[in-house]
Amino acid sequence: MKILVIGSGGREHAICRKLKESPLTDKLYCAPGNAGIAEIAEIVPIKATELEKIVAYAKENAIDLVFVAPDDPLAAGLVDMLEAEGVKAFGPRKNAAIIEGSKAFSKAFMMRHGIPTAKYEVFDNYGKARAYLESAEDFPVVLKADGLALGKGVIICPDRDSAFKALDDMMLSKVFGGAGNTVVIEEFLTGREMTVLAFTDGKCVKCMPASQDHKKAYDGDKGLNTGGMGAFAPTPVYTPEIERETLETIVYPTIKGLNEEGRTFKGVIYFGLMATDKGVKVIEYNARFGDPETQVVLPLLKTDLTEIVLAVIEERLDAVNIEWDKRAALTVVAASGGYPENVVKGYPITLGKFTPDVILYHAGTAYKDGALVTSGGRVFALTALGSDIADARKKVYAEIDKISFKDMRYRKDIGIK
Ligand code: AMP
Ligand code: GLY
Repeated sequence: MKILVIGSGGREHAICRKLKESPLTDKLYCAPGNAGIAEIAEIVPIKATELEKIVAYAKENAIDLVFVAPDDPLAAGLVDMLEAEGVKAFGPRKNAAIIEGSKAFSKAFMMRHGIPTAKYEVFDNYGKARAYLESAEDFPVVLKADGLALGKGVIICPDRDSAFKALDDMMLSKVFGGAGNTVVIEEFLTGREMTVLAFTDGKCVKCMPASQDHKKAYDGDKGLNTGGMGAFAPTPVYTPEIERETLETIVYPTIKGLNEEGRTFKGVIYFGLMATDKGVKVIEYNARFGDPETQVVLPLLKTDLTEIVLAVIEERLDAVNIEWDKRAALTVVAASGGYPENVVKGYPITLGKFTPDVILYHAGTAYKDGALVTSGGRVFALTALGSDIADARKKVYAEIDKISFKDMRYRKDIGIK
């Protein structure tokens, strides 16, 4: 098969590597890809948001399957557009991807189906939101831009003043653009976070090993939320008991609820969860693989990814036995100095010689005049497998300084807690 992957991050590099391993994959393409992906796939210079160009390219080049990895094209309906033209596509349709595309929708969906989540209010009127915050008694509160904001549209506000500021930023200054026209204000949850990714064809759902992201920019979970600075899997927080509870109260009701509403979900569904002392609650849904969770989960996958993807599309996932490596995996993101706020791009990169203990995933990298340069906030993710998390951690940190570019920064505490 000729497979086209949409996206350009570390997640897409990990997806491309796995698809490439499959005997079912004859030729791999990636739009727009990055410098690392260019080593294993033909780069197609079309952006992930140029939906019509993607559809035209797929048709002209007789692409057999398009794997849509990022949130924006999924929310905008790329899968529907491809299917309408008879091109097989992996990922949810627009009416299911809305569980990520609108936080107001996903909160209301959880209410309708009794799925545990933080208490919340939705506002599309600034004055009403401000009045709500004026009389709120419990802080911190969490403000969320309704729409997609590169994983940065969530602000945890320790007190009233910071909540006013976050509200002004979202609704008046429009720092997240139209994504902040509607805001969700919700209860702050405490507990341990975890990510559960699952393959689903709408009938059957098969979960991957639970992982833990590190969303904050700096060590000790300080600073702004980012797309994710590192991850590990499996997370010990996800005990067999918590797993049972998560499946019964969250995973199955979500798939069932989506079906009941005529929003059958096919693809990878992402459950962002918090294990609180009042049970497991949903922090967010995503309609896709996470980044950097993918860079720890996919290296543990032993089954052919192309085979799984086809089974999801053809709704025969129940017949596929998915096997996982029993080891642990950990990844650390090497980011640009100003990430997530001010990213300077175009710095030359030098890479040392890595041992076979680690896997280097490119994210924001490109070639400029033949030289490898930075081209995004998250530049690489370096992953290792180990006998346990500590072992994988040691291997990554032993080699991460072989990556070098101006103002490079990474968290030194991934997997410590
Ligand atoms: P989200 O994009 O919704 O996953 O939010 C980004 C991050 O903000 C999450 O991974 C959590 O660390 C944090 N967060 C979001 N919602 C809440 C909440 N209600 N309580 C505590 N932390 C939250
Ligand atoms: N790492 C979080 C996400 O992909 O949304």
